[in-house]
Amino acid sequence: MEKRQELYAGKAKSVYTTDDADLLVLHFRNDTSAFDGKIIEQLDRKGMVNNKFNAFIMEKLEAAGIPTHFEKLLSDEECLVKKMDMIPVECVVRNIAAGSLCRRLGVEEGIDLTPPTFEFFLKNDELGDPMINDYHIESFGWATAEQLSVMKKLTFQVNEILKALFLEGNMLLVDSKLEFGIYHGEVILGDEFSPDGCRLWDKDTREKLDKDRFRQGLGNVIESYEMVGKRLGLSF
Ligand code: TMP
Repeated sequence: MEKRQELYAGKAKSVYTTDDADLLVLHFRNDTSAFDGKIIEQLDRKGMVNNKFNAFIMEKLEAAGIPTHFEKLLSDEECLVKKMDMIPVECVVRNIAAGSLCRRLGVEEGIDLTPPTFEFFLKNDELGDPMINDYHIESFGWATAEQLSVMKKLTFQVNEILKALFLEGNMLLVDSKLEFGIYHGEVILGDEFSPDGCRLWDKDTREKLDKDRFRQGLGNVIESYEMVGKRLGLSF
């Protein structure tokens, strides 16, 4: 497999074409952004930590029967993925109230959500990733009703698999954001799963171990990401 030209650079990852039209290289950079790219900083080791963390989680999900774009690790900061047509929608599933849910609805951080709740957001930084609903997605043609129902079903399945996995490391999966794409007609999980795109709290102390440490200026961001990985049995 040969890496060719850069196709796209996002806020934290760059995407490269390869000599195989069905495969892309994802490069995890050290860039760390928050508030839709309004704050961007370089954090040492982040690309490597998130790349290895994502590979570990994607392999767990594949083993549990979730179709993902992940193929294999290529290097410290790169992995190989299937080339999908991305659906420009973020699927957020929440087990505990935090973040924008608390701001929007005036609820207290830390309340258990039973059953877990679900929200769609449009992937559009300029608009601040506005919340959207199923009807918007269908009317604007971002996905079909069938694709939507697969995205929801897979998101809840991923949530249950990962809630149990993190609990084994004495952590609570508070919420997470997933993105999907279409690969040869099938809806599969794309993007990444790392502490950048989910909230994880220590089960006993409720200490924040995810990107909220960066958003809220709590320090030790990458040290926390590495600790999360180590609690799952990963070594970096
Ligand atoms: P929120 O509480 O800010 O809506 O975020 C919910 C979850 O989604 C949280 O785990 C962070 C993640 N997320 C992203 O990964 N990217 C985004 O652009 C946004 C808005 C949230």
